[in-house]
Amino acid sequence: MDLPKVAAPNPIPVELVAGSTYAWCTCGLSDKQPFCNGAHKGTGFAPKVFVAEETKTAYMCQCKQTANPGFCDGAHKNL
Ligand code: FES
Repeated sequence: MDLPKVAAPNPIPVELVAGSTYAWCTCGLSDKQPFCNGAHKGTGFAPKVFVAEETKTAYMCQCKQTANPGFCDGAHKNL
């Protein structure tokens, strides 16, 4: 698997909690988008783990084309 799967062609709003750790799915195979469920095993992909810096609604990337891993940068408009 060279390229990630487009899990969905739009971002999804998620309520992040400051100090909590999240694992954003980079491969697009998880059925718990936008987060990793372990489906990447054997693909060469690994989740992007991050700690939320603030409590807020974040628009998280599901197309997996973002240049700002985890977060929508509008890249889905170019699919
Ligand atoms: S399931 Fe996609 S990175 Fe883990």
